[in-house]
Amino acid sequence: MKKKRSISSRRWLYEHFTDRFVKDAQLNNLRSRAWFKLRDIDLKYNLLKDKMHIIDLGSFPGSWSQYALHKIGKYGYIIACDINLMSDIPGVFFIQGDISIQETRMHILQLLKKKVDVVMSDISPNLTGISTIDIPRSIFLANLVFEIAYMTLSNKGILLVKIFQGLGVKNFFNKLQLYFNIVKVCKPVASRNRSREIFILAIGFKK
Ligand SMILES: C[S@@+](CC[C@H](N)C(=O)[O-])C[C@H]1O[C@@H](n2cnc3c(N)ncnc32)[C@H](O)[C@@H]1O
Repeated sequence: MKKKRSISSRRWLYEHFTDRFVKDAQLNNLRSRAWFKLRDIDLKYNLLKDKMHIIDLGSFPGSWSQYALHKIGKYGYIIACDINLMSDIPGVFFIQGDISIQETRMHILQLLKKKVDVVMSDISPNLTGISTIDIPRSIFLANLVFEIAYMTLSNKGILLVKIFQGLGVKNFFNKLQLYFNIVKVCKPVASRNRSREIFILAIGFKK
């Protein structure tokens, strides 16, 4: 068991340091390679626009907020939230907290100036590598993200949420179809092929 773990962590290190997105992120002062995932989805679907109001859930270390900020400009607004403390990004309001705790959700609601155009979430549980544990945790988090989106999205708003493929994802997808005009699955190029992560993009919130 010990041997297996050390092989996979060596493989992770090898992949990490030879990964072109990791290199590009470092070269361009981006907080993580996840920047490229949001960039790919945004370029494909033309989601983020000037002056938008956005909530970023599971935001640490901050590359999605970084990307979104340059798209929405100085009249846009971002509230970001993570359990981990995210270092300052001027123009982003950060809340450190766990979204499964009601106090955190209330804090997000209190900071809203108005309903938001986009709720985006790259949220991920601490992965164990055991799919029967990781997938239900991911679905639990995705449902919390949906609850926050339900309370905060404006009519026709957009939800983008990461989830790990497996049992229960279809039900989540079907639920989103009840509340949004268009629901799609995205797998951006920067998302590793062997990773179970996918992104569900739901456009056109039906209030
Ligand atoms: C893949 S990282 C996000 C990367 C980020 N999108 C970026 O571009 O820098 C996933 C994040 O989800 C956060 N997270 C996991 N569970 C959470 C919870 N219950 N509440 C808030 N954040 C959570 C983790 O702390 C982690 O920082």
